[in-house]
Amino acid sequence: MTQRAVLYAALLLFTAFTLPWVFERNRDSLYVVAADTDTKSEVTHPADTVHHDQGDFKQAGVCARCHVVSVLEWGISGHVAAETNCRTCHGESRGHVENERNQVKPDRLPRGDEITRQVCANCHESGCPKTLQTESCQQCHHVHALINPSHPPTAKNSRLEQLLSRWKNFESRMEEAEQHVRSHNFQAAQAVYDEALELIPSNHDAQRGLEMCIRRMNPSLQGFITVTEDIDSTTGLPTRVRVAESDVSMLLVPGGEFDIGSDGLADSRPSHTVQIGTFYLGRYEITQSQWQEVMGNNPSVHQGPDFPEADRMPVDRVSWNDCQEFLRRLNSRVPGAGFRLPTEAEWEYACLSGGPEDRAVSDPVTRPGRYAWFRSNSRRLSQPDQSFLEIDAFAPRPVGMKQPNAWSFHDMRGNIAEWCSSLFQPYLYDADDGRESVSSRGMRVVRGGGFADSATSLDPARRHSERPHRRFRWNGLRLARDVPNLPRRKRVTPP
Ligand code: HEC
Ligand code: HEC
Ligand code: HEC
Ligand code: HEC
Repeated sequence: MTQRAVLYAALLLFTAFTLPWVFERNRDSLYVVAADTDTKSEVTHPADTVHHDQGDFKQAGVCARCHVVSVLEWGISGHVAAETNCRTCHGESRGHVENERNQVKPDRLPRGDEITRQVCANCHESGCPKTLQTESCQQCHHVHALINPSHPPTAKNSRLEQLLSRWKNFESRMEEAEQHVRSHNFQAAQAVYDEALELIPSNHDAQRGLEMCIRRMNPSLQGFITVTEDIDSTTGLPTRVRVAESDVSMLLVPGGEFDIGSDGLADSRPSHTVQIGTFYLGRYEITQSQWQEVMGNNPSVHQGPDFPEADRMPVDRVSWNDCQEFLRRLNSRVPGAGFRLPTEAEWEYACLSGGPEDRAVSDPVTRPGRYAWFRSNSRRLSQPDQSFLEIDAFAPRPVGMKQPNAWSFHDMRGNIAEWCSSLFQPYLYDADDGRESVSSRGMRVVRGGGFADSATSLDPARRHSERPHRRFRWNGLRLARDVPNLPRRKRVTPP
């Protein structure tokens, strides 16, 4: 962290000299052209690490349009002269470049030990000529700038000194705060995070730390009963809760990013990265008795003498519009609630429970019977094998009978298909482009597949769609809720 800070400070200084010139050099591939292009021919390089022909910057090509900082980092390295450019290490990144909103991952982004093995070792086969090290190149060489950050270009400059001391101060505040957190002294930690934010107001780690402390000191959540001592360490929120005056249990889903979609499915292309905020999601599908309790009716097909366990079975034959009414009534009962359906992105994130690495493990397409009720295991015993009565031959089961996924959600796939809040619109998924509007007309997304579906319909990435007023015996719902906002803090201005 300190090394990075030093490097950035040095780069900042360097940037001040070279930005106008870089932009000028790449004029045809840049959106923005820096204001002061007059200085371009008088550029002086503060660091003697710069030993390449200026024209070589062109190699950064289209990447320079969006990644100015990375280009500058790379720009002071010997790799520019050695014709090792963005694409050598990151691949063509075609989908990523074409997508202006850019939620498609670049082709290659090695992390940790893979960096040496997959990138540096390709060309520097015998390791570091200076230290003879063959591993962890990135420990000493910044991956773009290459300089050894413990010996940054030394520019004696008061602005640089100032920047550095601010960073150092900030980092020591953060360390102090983390120590307080470790000893559960959240009040002290909050005060120190506050000081850190005075130094660098936009820092996400400090902001997150501060929010976590506030939540730890005021643990109650309106409309929820906390049913566990277990607190999530990054958000400070309880991991398991119950909706007040009801038996709907919900689990915390800490925010993050994941790759939604699948390049192998027509409606789910391309696979791309989306950010998910922290939210709560129902551990089970909403049952018939939970629906009855809120709505005073039970529309389900699967009830009556044939289904003695109907109370615990998921409610079915509800339309998307019915779900909205259910939510409206639930919200009017529970103060400060804000219950809603999950977005399709939230649904897929929770279903995958930790990213594509886990897709194989938690995927019912590989071992469906352990996790899901679907066509192969949900036939009703009493029903003869008559194909014209196809749908009657299968039925959902009480919720929670199968193994949960890695994040403890039951029946995400199979059993009953689940309405999501989202309009069925082509990818890329963007929660802010109107597709989450409750009042817009159009088909809505249904996820997870149901009891009469084949295994392939249960793919976590597969998007089904339905008109919002249609009621089918295979569609039900699962409850979601945002994390209640913290009261706005008023900022104290530094003396
Ligand atoms: C249209 C703008 C745009 C273009 C052109 C572009 N990128 Fe990106 N790139 C982004 C955005 C936005 C992100 C995500 C935010 C971030 O990490 O900066 C990103 C992220 C990345 C990441 C980091 C991904 C991660 O998970 O942290 C790499 C590596 C990357 N781009 C490489 C490239 C390369 C190489 C090129 C040129 C071949 C390129 N990009 C061209 C916009 C662009
Ligand atoms: C020598 C190989 C190499 C070259 C050349 C290279 N990169 Fe990278 N880049 C990496 C590696 C390795 C990482 C991952 C760093 C990490 O995880 O710490 C990375 C990370 C990134 C990121 C993620 C954000 C960050 O800074 O951590 C972006 C964006 C990026 N590179 C863009 C570019 C662009 C644009 C170029 C061309 C100007 C470029 N890279 C040239 C190896 C390279
Ligand atoms: C496509 C081949 C290629 C890849 C990949 C590559 N390099 Fe290089 N690198 C070169 C060449 C060629 C030179 C210039 C000749 C030399 O100094 O060995 C160079 C030079 C360097 C230098 C000295 C230049 C300077 O500015 O001081 C360092 C340090 C370095 N590379 C580190 C790395 C690291 C770390 C990685 C992995 C993140 C990496 N290289 C990946 C080809 C590559
Ligand atoms: C323990 C720290 C350390 C590690 C790990 C390390 N290097 Fe170096 N490397 C250095 C130092 C220090 C220099 C000299 C830098 C200077 O003179 O500015 C150097 C210089 C280089 C040079 C330039 C040599 C020259 O003749 O100028 C290359 C190329 C290089 N390293 C590649 C690598 C590669 C590839 C790896 C990973 C396999 C690696 N280094 C791992 C510390 C390290």
